[in-house]
Order: sequence, then structure tokens, then C-alpha cells
Amino acid sequence: MKLMAFNGSPRKKWNTATMVEHALEGAREAGAEVELVNLYDLDFKGCSSCFACKRLNRKEIGVCAVKDELKPVLERVREADALLVGSPVYYGTESACTRAFLERVQFPYLNYADYDNSHFPRKIPTGLIYTMNVPESLLEPLGYPVTFERTRAFLARHFGSCELLLSMNTSQYSDYDKYETGFDKEAKARQHEEQFPKDCQAARELGARLAKGYQG
Ligand SMILES: Cc1cc2nc3c(=O)[nH]c(=O)nc-3n(C[C@H](O)[C@H](O)[C@H](O)COP(=O)(O)O)c2cc1C
Repeated sequence: MKLMAFNGSPRKKWNTATMVEHALEGAREAGAEVELVNLYDLDFKGCSSCFACKRLNRKEIGVCAVKDELKPVLERVREADALLVGSPVYYGTESACTRAFLERVQFPYLNYADYDNSHFPRKIPTGLIYTMNVPESLLEPLGYPVTFERTRAFLARHFGSCELLLSMNTSQYSDYDKYETGFDKEAKARQHEEQFPKDCQAARELGARLAKGYQG
């Protein structure tokens, strides 16, 4: 069982990366081989709309024709038994880099002739983690659940299943005194000490579930 995880934050030690790392620990403990890809390390763009992956006479099904640093990663995704994508919320949705990755990793598997039959060769479980600044009370008013569910449902459609995990009210800085902010600094610190470890534990459990493979 090989789990591939993707950190869609430019920061390699902060909230998203920490959640992803805990999920990887859970997967490792459950016996999975794991690989972490920091998406911001790679030089790639989103889908170029070349439609090579939709040509009737194409040699390979489910393969993106774009040759860049994401290509070998996409080749490994094809062999993976589980996927995990973590992203910070930027302007109410995934970071731009995560969005570009999701286009590239999914579109070749989208079967235009039969939407219910993905071109991905088998069914695998996936996980989707979002970390965000806003507290839970603002999720609905800002319309976030609709966005998160849309991305979750696309991953489930393309790969088999997808579980969503949220970490809210994250700390953006280690020292709020050094940056402009309207937040209650003490409440942020409390949240980080009390809630974030619970979120990390939930990520660890998600990793362990992904390591069990596709459960239907
Ligand atoms: C460009 C930018 C846009 C952001 N937009 C939002 C947003 O719309 N909603 C939100 O809740 N948090 C927003 N945030 C905060 C991050 O989502 C949050 O701090 C996240 O946990 C950061 O993840 P990281 O620590 O892994 O980088 C934004 C941060 C940045 C840098």
C-alpha cells in the first residue's frame, strides 16, 4: 500500500504541512509506504486545455500530455493506492498551486463519454484537508461548505472515495504582536494549544483509514 500526499501550502512546517505529516504518520503506523510532495517545490501550471487526454486516437488513456515537473509525479499517482491533498484556504478555496494540481491530476481521468466511469484504472481512497483562518461559525455564512464539498466530490468521482477534514481558526503567525491583525491574540493562542492537537490527531486517524485501502 503506497500513500502519496501533497502539501499545497508554500509553508513546509506550518498548519497544512503539520496536518499532512500527522496523516502520514498514521498511515505509516498502519503499515503504508508514504511519499510527500511539496507542490510549491515543483515548476508546473494547471491544465493547458490541450485536450490531448480526450483525443479518440490517443495512445494512452488517463495521461496528461504536458511535459513539466509534475509529469513524473502524475506517473506515480497512477500507481498509488491512496492519495491525500492538503491545502490552506486562500480566498475561500484551495491555494492556486493546489488548484493547478487538482486540474492536472484529475482531468485526464474525467471520462467525457461516461461521467460515472473514471479513466483511473481502479478505485482508491483519497483524503482532502483544508486549514483556514476563519472559525467554524463563519464557514456557512462564507459559503465554504459548498466549495469544499465540490472538490471532495470531484476527487471521489475520479478516484473512488474522498474524506474531508477541516482545521479551522489556525494560527497564521508565531507572534501576532509583529503583524497587523484584528484577531484576539489570546483566543488564537488558546485555539492553537487546545484544538490544533485534536485536529492533528484527526489527521493521524484519517491517514490510518486511507492506509486500509478502498472500502467501497
Ligand atoms: C493569500 C492568503 C489568503 C487567505 N485567505 C483565507 C480565506 O479566504 N479564508 C480563511 O479562512 N483563511 C485564509 N487565509 C489563511 C490561511 O488559510 C490559514 O492561515 C492556513 O491555515 C494557512 O496554512 P499554512 O499554515 O499551511 O500556510 C489566507 C492566507 C493567505 C496567505
